[in-house]
Amino acid sequence: MKKTINVAVVGKGAMGRTHSSSIAMLKYCFKDMPFEVKLHTLVTRNEETARKDADELGFENYATSYEEMLSNPEIDVVDICTPNNLHFDMVQKAVMANKHILCEKPLGISYEETEKILSLIEGKNKCYGMVFNNRHYPAIIRAKQIVKEGHLGRILSFRSCYRHSSGTDPEKNAGWKQNKDICGAGVLFDLGSHVIDLLSCVLGDKEENRITKVKSVPQIGFETRRGMNGEEWKTNAEEAIYVIATLKCGAVGTLEATKICVGANDDFTLEIFGTDGSLKFDIMQPNFLEFYDNTAVGKPVGGYKGYTRIECINRLNDVIPGSVLPGMRAPIGWLQGHVNSMYNYFMCVYEGKTPSPSFADGAYVNKIMDMCKL
Ligand SMILES: NC(=O)c1ccc[n+]([C@@H]2O[C@H](COP(=O)([O-])OP(=O)(O)OC[C@H]3O[C@@H](n4cnc5c(N)ncnc54)[C@H](O)[C@@H]3O)[C@@H](O)[C@H]2O)c1
Repeated sequence: MKKTINVAVVGKGAMGRTHSSSIAMLKYCFKDMPFEVKLHTLVTRNEETARKDADELGFENYATSYEEMLSNPEIDVVDICTPNNLHFDMVQKAVMANKHILCEKPLGISYEETEKILSLIEGKNKCYGMVFNNRHYPAIIRAKQIVKEGHLGRILSFRSCYRHSSGTDPEKNAGWKQNKDICGAGVLFDLGSHVIDLLSCVLGDKEENRITKVKSVPQIGFETRRGMNGEEWKTNAEEAIYVIATLKCGAVGTLEATKICVGANDDFTLEIFGTDGSLKFDIMQPNFLEFYDNTAVGKPVGGYKGYTRIECINRLNDVIPGSVLPGMRAPIGWLQGHVNSMYNYFMCVYEGKTPSPSFADGAYVNKIMDMCKL
């Protein structure tokens, strides 16, 4: 008999929907899983639509009170998909209720909040994981292996950009992600958190590869627009941020996050340059990782030197043996990153292991974001 892990998803917005569908897909995408995850309860504030919402996303139950959900002993995992300023309070309450927790990024709206969370969870025997879904692309898993095996040599520099065009329309109302009172900052906390995490993930958690210094320049492209209530609103958070970051080992690079970039969709790139090799990843070409081996023979003519386009596709079987969907030759996509993220987290719940990314990874991202805030 398989172990059942009961999950409550909190928030029925874009991520509530994404997590629910990713959890539902686990059993199709991974065979021989030793556990099943049940969509037990959807937590949503709207009493009138709650039953319909729960049915639509495949939940057995709904709750309109977070605390009521926490008091249900049947629920093993609380999956937090609410706006950023609610994470701290919700995480604390779920820790006190002795639940496993999966939290959308960022863990908190300040490093101080996340430090408090880290001390609260110390010694607790539960699984506390973050959703930094981009870590779970096969190409990123491969990039991490290449760095770990030392193929880049000493890291000299890096460049990562996450660009959206969503803020370029002045007629578009600001949402909560543009309001620093709810988001914690602007695009730094929204897209920038992914940028910091992906670099840290690929470089590994060696102390020498941690960011120790930053210089950041924020930008507001549109001083005013309509706010969440449709009334005239003064932009109160950066719409783009450009950061020069230094690692402890001396490597220097740039990190950029923007929502005011015309022509961008979900454009996320990461490049790392070392003494022995370089890596390039572009989320819009997620099936491939580009690797330059500087130790390859460069003669005659160019010899074997040059970027190799490594096909990563969904070839995850060596790291996740039960991965069957999409097939081994099928292209990977954004949603699959979330499905793989869920697999990674729930396997840790099942095996009683610390997940990666963990709350400590989440706190590191908040620490660097606080350094970047002006
Ligand atoms: N990893 C990713 O790919 C990714 C992408 C987008 C957003 N996010 C993160 O996910 C989180 C949610 O973002 P989103 O895009 O889904 O936002 P959203 O605005 O679409 O959804 C948030 C939902 O939370 C609900 N909510 C607010 N307070 C609540 C409460 N007390 N109880 C229950 N529900 C409540 C809102 O009604 C809304 O439905 C944020 O932390 C964001 O940073 C992550």
